[in-house]
Amino acid sequence: MSREWDAATYDRVASPQARWGADVVRRLDPRDVEVVLDAGCGSGRVTEQLLERLPDVRVVALDGSARMLEEARRRLARYGSRVAFLHADLREPFALDGPADAILSTATFHWVPDHPALFRRLAGVLRSGGQLVAQYGGAGNIASVARALAEIGDPLPGRWTYPTPDDDRAALLDAGFADVEAWLQPEPTTIEPGEPFETFLATVVLREHVALLPEAERPGFVRAVAARLPGPVLDYVRLNVQARRA
Ligand SMILES: C[S@@+](CC[C@H](N)C(=O)[O-])C[C@H]1O[C@@H](n2cnc3c(N)ncnc32)[C@H](O)[C@@H]1O
Repeated sequence: MSREWDAATYDRVASPQARWGADVVRRLDPRDVEVVLDAGCGSGRVTEQLLERLPDVRVVALDGSARMLEEARRRLARYGSRVAFLHADLREPFALDGPADAILSTATFHWVPDHPALFRRLAGVLRSGGQLVAQYGGAGNIASVARALAEIGDPLPGRWTYPTPDDDRAALLDAGFADVEAWLQPEPTTIEPGEPFETFLATVVLREHVALLPEAERPGFVRAVAARLPGPVLDYVRLNVQARRA
């Protein structure tokens, strides 16, 4: 499965993710925070908000997609040595130069299976008392898309990891986190109909499904999914987590 994204298009269409990301950035407690890991920085729109809100922090911007990192480098160039870029896969162990004081992550963990293992890896790069502040797809996220895919034959059933708050609260406690909070936030999101909606589906939601198909079949597939949805609306449900490494 390709780890690559159409990063320039993502950067252009990911306004819902940037808007949700602003809330996540605001939840980060700036006290005693010098180094923040942005786990799944994408094209850097949320990373940029973090750098603006906390002008004294340095950020390690991690992503598994080389194209996303390229886009993030462009967007964040003006922050100079305040940002370091790391091409790494959150599904595998990775190392930082030193422990982070906080980890921020937006719209990423639902792409990573096995959250108990993911949270153990994150605890391993976070200092004792350091914060994890994250938001990603939770139970019920884009259920209408899953139903539409099931109707036309989903080549990647169960591809996304959409846990309940209880699932990930337990996984975080097991991984050595304390003060754990986890809650769902429904975010039904309307996209401009027609081409903008189809581009959003193809670039973000159906990225991996589309990548499996020959180029010529992609638009038809995306249209078949869109036609089964109740309008250009995505029934997003975000899972927020907040925790400190014990
Ligand atoms: C929807 S984008 C979110 C980007 C950014 N945080 C935002 O909110 O706009 C998801 C990002 O997670 C990254 N990602 C997904 N799975 C990953 C993995 N296993 N390791 C590292 N990055 C991953 C993707 O490459 C992509 O850049």
